[in-house]
Amino acid sequence: MKVAVIGAGAVGGQLAFVLALKRYRQIALIDTAEGVARGKAMDIMQSQPVWGFPGTVEGSEDYAIMEGSSAVVITAGSPRKPGMTREDLFNINYSIIDRVCSNIKQYAPGAIVIVITNPLDIMTYAAWKATGFNSSRVMGMGGMLDSARYRYFIAEAAGCAPDEAEGVVIGPHGESMIPLDGARAAGKSLEEIVGEKASLRVKEKTAAGGKEIVSLLKSGSAHFAPAAAAAEMLDAVFNDTGRVMPACVLASGLWDLPEVYIGLEAKIGREGVKKLVKSDISEGDLKLLKEAADKLCKRLEEIGISDSDGKK
Ligand code: APR
Repeated sequence: MKVAVIGAGAVGGQLAFVLALKRYRQIALIDTAEGVARGKAMDIMQSQPVWGFPGTVEGSEDYAIMEGSSAVVITAGSPRKPGMTREDLFNINYSIIDRVCSNIKQYAPGAIVIVITNPLDIMTYAAWKATGFNSSRVMGMGGMLDSARYRYFIAEAAGCAPDEAEGVVIGPHGESMIPLDGARAAGKSLEEIVGEKASLRVKEKTAAGGKEIVSLLKSGSAHFAPAAAAAEMLDAVFNDTGRVMPACVLASGLWDLPEVYIGLEAKIGREGVKKLVKSDISEGDLKLLKEAADKLCKRLEEIGISDSDGKK
């Protein structure tokens, strides 16, 4: 099965490499900047004798190479600079999403679409509208990244192995994300191990994780963890695992949430979102989720892309 990665910058290039290492057979890497996708694809392929992966990464400026892809990941767009929020990227990235989506419709009309471009919740909604695909086939990568960061900071605080840390983040992909209560380290409650104050600090570090990296890098934003998180989502799609994971999905139908894309837990498989799953959530966090969803709804109205036009 074939996967296309649109945007061969920091996130897209790393994702294509990770997918090759994970033994995906056909990876199409596309970037409108002359030579970038071809150069990165060449670089990845020249590591093949060392890594011994079986697949092929093809790079091009031409969207047509995505033809036949079962999944398309959109990383095209500008990353944050120090001092910018993900929301500040809206104007730059909105028109890019539109152009990319019209090409997805043309060349990969049956694909599952995973959006990484920020501001994620808005861009994923825009991709849903612009493709006209069923909402189950359009989702965004945010929650898996935020949850990976949460788990990293849980492990750090509790002194356990990262793969023994459990924690889930839902809500918007931004600083008002919602790291849920119930974090666990090696089977025990984080709060019991480190106390209430330290577990609150873990949540704060999680929400500020991306920003901290942006300020250290000075140009560009995180890409290793985002690519890893996107690869996890693709694995669920390609292997049809039905794994429950946090993803940016169309929220209508759960907890009376409005028609917005926001991070929720969902069962992911070959057809995309199989089912939304109700997280074990406190009343306080549910209130925060509803407020964030209402805020997104208002923002979509302001932008003028929220009118239902029957594209389902
Ligand atoms: N089609 C294809 N590629 C495009 C298009 C387009 N219409 N417009 C821009 N690009 C390419 C750029 O040429 C660039 O190579 O998208 C790439 C983006 O790469 P980077 O600038 O390195 O950005 P990156 O760090 O990969 O982040 C991409 O993901 O995490 C988010 O906030 C981040 O929105 C940003 C996106």
